[in-house]
Amino acid sequence: MENYTIDVIAGDGIGQEVVPAALECLTAVARRDGFRFEWRHHDWGADRYRVDGAMMPANGLDQLRDGDGIFLGAVGHPDIPDHVSLWGLLIPIRKAFHQYVNLRPVRLLPGVTSPLRESGGLDIVVVRENVEGEYSEMGGRAYTGDAEELVTQQALFTRSGVSRVARFAAELASTRSGSLISATKSNGIIHSMPFWDEVVAEVVADFPEVRLESVLIDALAARAVLRPFSLDVIVASNLFGDILSDLVAATAGSIGVAPSANLNPERLNPSMFEPVHGSAPDIAGRGVANPVGQIWAGVLMLEHLGQAGSARTLMSALEDVLADGIRTIDLGGTARTAEVAAAVVERLRIAG
Ligand code: NAI
Ligand code: MG
Repeated sequence: MENYTIDVIAGDGIGQEVVPAALECLTAVARRDGFRFEWRHHDWGADRYRVDGAMMPANGLDQLRDGDGIFLGAVGHPDIPDHVSLWGLLIPIRKAFHQYVNLRPVRLLPGVTSPLRESGGLDIVVVRENVEGEYSEMGGRAYTGDAEELVTQQALFTRSGVSRVARFAAELASTRSGSLISATKSNGIIHSMPFWDEVVAEVVADFPEVRLESVLIDALAARAVLRPFSLDVIVASNLFGDILSDLVAATAGSIGVAPSANLNPERLNPSMFEPVHGSAPDIAGRGVANPVGQIWAGVLMLEHLGQAGSARTLMSALEDVLADGIRTIDLGGTARTAEVAAAVVERLRIAG
């Protein structure tokens, strides 16, 4: 029997609520389809930071290295600066394991209402560059507190880094409608963005079946609201992809339903699956968080592990449950986190 070792980092806030819910669903689909998960739980996050000043142990990355994947909830606590929590856990994993693709599918799920008047056919995948670009450690701060205080923050783009994410996006576009939009800002950012455009165009030239359109990020943000159905695959730098994927996730009803996969496409290191949302301290501890984004992240993990059939089964169970009206409060329902998970597990049992 196939056995997958998955490192589980539930993390902070609602991560502690949506991760157990998603694990129940994953365990159920594995049992139904004849494979097994071994969950290796790690209590990393804000509580650990309060005790010994680090979000994860010094050898944390080594503990994850031999696993088949990482399943993460969310990190971040109001008492701890966000740059400390994110750079202490999430970002080191993405960088060390060369998870250079952040894949964020967005679809309008059944029973979920979009805030947009026209949302028909909303089906978008944002391919976000995940390890370089604007999220770099290069820069510094001087004359702290003085009137002359200054900071610099350097963006870093490499030919290999832009090429590989563009290639991934072009391959994906060629399996879908063939349309690929590249987010740019080459009118305002004069070094890195013209370079981005140039390298993306070079890579996509190898894919005659893919139509590349470079769109300025500001215009693209407006288009994502006004004509979301005109978008299919979007490739974007780290910062642009981050913002744009939250925007399109919101057009699909709630940030609580949006999943993401941090992929190392060469599979030299484990990939990491997580919802797009954060730890939601405003609703944490009440058992009302929407587990759909976390469960859908589990579907992406199943796909990556080569269990495409189980991925489809779990996704349709999730869609059926939503269509039946079992929805959390962010989607206008009354169901609790655990009730959504239980309904998905029940569906899987019936389907099996
Ligand atoms: P957030 O995504 O945690 O929350 C934004 C809003 O959406 C809140 O009103 C929240 O209640 C709601 N929401 C989010 N997920 C939901 C769910 N599953 N069900 C129902 N409602 C949901 O973003 P925010 O408030 O900006 O950040 C909170 C903390 O999370 C910060 O410390 C931030 O740094 C961290 N964060 C961590 C991320 C990660 O671990 N990948 C990503 C984004 C933020
Ligand atoms: Mg974000």
